[in-house]
Formats: sequence, structure tokens, C-alpha cells
Amino acid sequence: MGLNSKFWWKWLLVGGTFCFSLTNIPALAQETGFINLYNTGVDIRLGARYFERQCSRCHGLDAKGNDETGAPDLTVRLSRASSDAGVFRIIREGIAGTAMLPVSADVPDPQVWQLVTYIASLNTDPANFDLPGSVAAGAALFTGRGDCGSCHMVGGVGGRRGPDLSRVGERRDPDELKTDLIDPNETVLPRWWTIRATATDGTVVEGWRMGEDTFGIRLIDANANLWSFSKEQMQSYERVEDSTMPSYAQTFSESEIDDLVAYLFSLRKEN
Ligand code: HEC
Ligand code: HEC
Repeated sequence: MGLNSKFWWKWLLVGGTFCFSLTNIPALAQETGFINLYNTGVDIRLGARYFERQCSRCHGLDAKGNDETGAPDLTVRLSRASSDAGVFRIIREGIAGTAMLPVSADVPDPQVWQLVTYIASLNTDPANFDLPGSVAAGAALFTGRGDCGSCHMVGGVGGRRGPDLSRVGERRDPDELKTDLIDPNETVLPRWWTIRATATDGTVVEGWRMGEDTFGIRLIDANANLWSFSKEQMQSYERVEDSTMPSYAQTFSESEIDDLVAYLFSLRKEN
């Protein structure tokens, strides 16, 4: 059954919200250890506010460090951590034998992650990175051969079967972007998990869960078709935590991946 194309994505959003239940998130964070799930613009702002109160007296209001306190500049590549997880540990545990003390134990993890996100947002100035790829060539691959816009929105244009990438350069660094392209299954937020249903006649349908009740399940597939199965019509169904995005490791050469990374990393809020 097809859905009015103008409205199907709204259903997708409803389905997505449904899957993205709050109980899933802490469970995922626990299972996978150190993944920063607090990386939106709101998190950056909350992190900045907390930084101002707790950290700026040593690191400076602009986070550029302070010679008197010996607190380093946090807007450049950090010397003691190369990942979000590393920065999390520094804030949580402090740096032994220095003025960099751990945050108070009753500061909850999400708040620490917001600090991490804020700090990461300071160091996404492309000028700090020497990327081998070409932004223009990457943009051409994105809209051309890669057909990435069929799933991703950039600047209000594109599909909704994947996250909006308009500002992806602010939340993913070049290494992470490369991983996104060659190993999309590495981290998939619950928002993008799907359900695979096998009907009694052997038909297999995979899509986002739209609804589920005692009688059956409704799915929307990647082509925006809505499927509805009653319990009797189904052999089985399972949750798929893999990404619906294909890996591009074979599709693109090493240098084309570099071009795409350069392009993606250039996507940020327009000033
Ligand atoms: C009392 C002063 C002081 C306060 C307050 C403070 N820091 Fe620090 N911080 C330091 C010093 C000094 C270092 C350098 C320690 C070293 O490496 O010798 C440091 C190092 C760091 C580093 C590692 C930098 C690198 O280049 O690897 C991070 C990240 C950091 N601080 C974040 C924070 C955050 C976030 C807060 C607020 C929750 C905070 N700091 C509060 C003094 C402080
Ligand atoms: C069939 C749909 C589909 C296509 C085609 C697709 N993607 Fe994706 N993409 C997704 C989905 C779904 C996710 C979220 C799940 C995940 O993390 O893999 C995603 C995630 C991403 C992310 C991580 C975004 C974030 O916020 O963390 C990047 C970057 C990305 N895609 C870039 C691309 C590029 C570049 C192309 C084209 C070469 C592409 N995608 C093609 C569906 C797609």
C-alpha cells in the first residue's frame, strides 16, 4: 500500500519517535560504553553554560586557556585526549597531580557529555585540520554518483531516510565521518533501527516500526510503502540494529572517500 508521498515522512517521524524511547538510550550507552549521545545544538549550549560556571575560571571564558592557572587552550587539538571518550574521562577523573580536578561525583553523565560536546564544538574549525580531500569534488559525489541526497537532507534539500547532514561537520570529526562511510554499522542510534518481518508466505519486509499492538505490526519500508501484518500473517519478526545505509568502502576509492569527508566536514552552520 502506498502512502501519499507528501505525508509519508511525517509518519516516519512518528515511527522514529516511537522507537527512540527514553529507556533505550541509557541501555545503549551502557552496552557500548562510551558513545556520546548528547551531541545536539542544545547540548552544546547547555555544555557552554556549565563550562562558564565550572571551568572558565581556569580555562578562560573563551576556553583558550590561561597562563596563570596553567590550564591549556581547549579550542585546539587536545594533548591528553584524542576522542570524546578520552575527554569524558578527563572531566570525570581529572588529571592526577595537577589542578585539573574531577567534577563532583553528583554531576550526572549526560552533563559531562554536554561538556564534551561543547569542547568538541570548539575544535571543528576546518582550519585546524589538514584534510587531503577536495570539498568541491566531495559535493559533486554527494549529489552525483553517491546519490546521498536520496536519504539525507542538506540545507533543506534531500530525503529523510537518514539524518539531516546540514551541520554534520559540527558533530562528527573527519575520522568519525570516514567511519560513517565505510562502516555504517559501527554506531547506529535506536532512532535508525529497523524491524524485519517474515510473513507466513515467506515475504520479508524490512522497515521502520510504525506501530505495534496485540494484533500485529505496521512498518514503513525504505520506499515509503506502509506494510501491515497481523500476528497470524507473520512467521517471525526481529529488530535490526544494523544501519540501512550501505557501506561505501567498495563503491568509492580512497581519495573519493577523502573528498566526501572533506565535503561533509565543511557542512556547518552558515555564518
Ligand atoms: C582549577 C583550575 C581548573 C579547573 C576549574 C578546570 N581545569 Fe581543566 N585543566 C586544568 C589544568 C591545569 C589542566 C592541565 C593539566 C596537565 O595536563 O598538566 C587541565 C586540563 C584539562 C583538559 C585536557 C586538555 C588537553 O589538552 O588534553 C581538559 C579536557 C579539561 N581540562 C577540561 C576541563 C573542564 C571541562 C572543566 C570544568 C568542568 C575544567 N577543565 C576545569 C585546570 C582546571
Ligand atoms: C539508503 C539510505 C542512505 C543512503 C543512500 C546514504 N545514507 Fe548515510 N545514513 C543513513 C542512515 C539511516 C544513517 C543513520 C544510521 C547510521 O548511523 O548509519 C546514516 C548516517 C550517515 C552519517 C552519520 C550522520 C550522523 O549524524 O552521525 C553520514 C555522515 C552519512 N550517513 C553520509 C552519507 C553519505 C556521504 C552518503 C552517500 C555517499 C550516504 N550517507 C548515503 C542512510 C543512508
